[in-house]
Amino acid sequence: MRRLVSETTLEPRQLILPMFIREGAREPIAISTMPGVYQHTRDTARKAIAEAAQLGLGGVMLFGVPSSKDEVGSGAVDPDGILNVAIRDAVSEVGDDLLVMSDLCLDEFTSHGHCGVLDSAGRVDNDATLKIYAEMGVAQASAGAHVVGPSGMMDGQVGVIRTALDAAGHLDTVILAYAAKYASAFFGPFREAVDSSLQGDRKTYQQDPANAREALREVDLDVAEGADIVMVKPALAYLDIIRQVRDHVDVPVAAYNISGEYAMVEAAAANGWIDRERAIMETLTSIRRAGADTILTYWAAEVAQLLHR
Ligand code: PBG
Repeated sequence: MRRLVSETTLEPRQLILPMFIREGAREPIAISTMPGVYQHTRDTARKAIAEAAQLGLGGVMLFGVPSSKDEVGSGAVDPDGILNVAIRDAVSEVGDDLLVMSDLCLDEFTSHGHCGVLDSAGRVDNDATLKIYAEMGVAQASAGAHVVGPSGMMDGQVGVIRTALDAAGHLDTVILAYAAKYASAFFGPFREAVDSSLQGDRKTYQQDPANAREALREVDLDVAEGADIVMVKPALAYLDIIRQVRDHVDVPVAAYNISGEYAMVEAAAANGWIDRERAIMETLTSIRRAGADTILTYWAAEVAQLLHR
């Protein structure tokens, strides 16, 4: 009876697996703050991507962990930079059987860890960053990414990336815009995942957790600039925002079940304080119920296996 009248579905095709690929790694490196998640080698990444396709996931979202960083994040636009290499690996592995998505942001590649380049006063320079994002988008699309995911919250990022992609002939490359992204404590574990060098915070470009109307304004701007899919991030502390965005736009809405949300469940489960599988399923169901069409989650592959059971 419950199955007959259940209002919310959770299916493998709705899940996107975020993955970290570390330059030069010879074996997968465990991320202590995210038990069960690894920085992949190129080889293990290929295997995980092939498995993701086999499990019927919606896609993978790739993050690069470069072995060297600089002030302007040069590794991000270099065709031989780790993320672009990982995109090529992924596409050669799965072709068009699985959507290959890539994080379009400088924070993994900059020595200061900010999502953009800095001006002479040490502040994030929005417009100088846009030029690099445009180049990075083209580099990722040239490497074969089906979807690029600008996550840096620079004003105007979607518009410049769309224009650059079109000018380079990448008319079919989709933009999944991190439209409403909050300056959140729940990103903590991710910083270890990508060996982040960030000092300070991202409050000059990410949103204030107190604001909801502002999220709708950010979403409207991104849709007007050409976003094909809009994202709300984090997910759990922002389920109301997911609902408002779902009711507000007619493009698909994604939500990112982020590192801290993952770590909380894993930590409590490891202590025997909650039932891990039930907590995972309830978490993802709540994000779908709030209105997310697709969910980025580190549990994507495991949950797909559970759903296939
Ligand atoms: C920025 C980016 C971040 C995450 C995804 N893309 C970190 C940040 O904005 O500080 C966080 C993902 C997570 O916490 O799981 N490139």
